Amino acid sequence: MVPFLLITDLDNTLVGDSATLQQLNHWLNVCRRENGVKVVYSTGRSLFSYQELQKKQSLLQPDALITSVGTEIYYQDAKEPNLTWSNKLNSQWDRDLVVSIAAHFADLVPQPNTEQGALKVSYYLTEEAAVEVVPHLETLLQERQVQAKIIYSGGQDLDILPVHADKGQAMTFVQEQLGFTATQTVACGDSGNDIALFSMGEERGIIVGNAQPELLRWHQANPSPNHYLAKAACAGGILEGLAHFGFLQN
Ligand code: GLC
Ligand code: MG
Repeated sequence: MVPFLLITDLDNTLVGDSATLQQLNHWLNVCRRENGVKVVYSTGRSLFSYQELQKKQSLLQPDALITSVGTEIYYQDAKEPNLTWSNKLNSQWDRDLVVSIAAHFADLVPQPNTEQGALKVSYYLTEEAAVEVVPHLETLLQERQVQAKIIYSGGQDLDILPVHADKGQAMTFVQEQLGFTATQTVACGDSGNDIALFSMGEERGIIVGNAQPELLRWHQANPSPNHYLAKAACAGGILEGLAHFGFLQN
């Protein structure tokens, strides 16, 4: 088997069905030991919220952890995010200005403090309100010449990030650091903030069967033989996709 890098979202992608998660964990453990496979988690959660999930789920210790929608990268047991990555994102980011502009929209309800980051501002926004708020917010940011990126996920979460931040850009950074090419990388996701994982280039992408409408719409509009829409949900969908791309063999 060729070594590959598995980079996966957590909520409703890797995590969600414990029976297939156990099966996938078991198989990945063997592949890591014997075939040089590496595992990276990429989540919208903060480090704090990731640690909460870790207490409840049987997760492997990843080779790298990307949190807060690609804005923080942790290697091994590091307590602080990778500084090269943080500095790169910080150079064109004015968090206070972003917050003051977002304050114009009453529909944007700030998420709890634990989910706010130095490089991530997050709100709740209903799907009905999003139709108008997202384009208006985009226009206002442009008018004020604010460099920022808006990502809407799961019909409820709106993240505003530095312009070069997202799960895809962070994946490329980690890929290079761990020594894998795009074609040796398999990315898995279920929602809007995972679209960036499927948009970088030659990576193999697995969209789990329970994916959110915004990702399914994107997949329909951007079909690619590199992307596989699984029938099974969560970890079962990842196993199905790995078999589809020929990685699941011993
Ligand atoms: C996670 C984070 C939240 C973010 C969402 C979508 O749920 O906790 O802050 O908005 O992912 O990216
Ligand atoms: Mg998810």
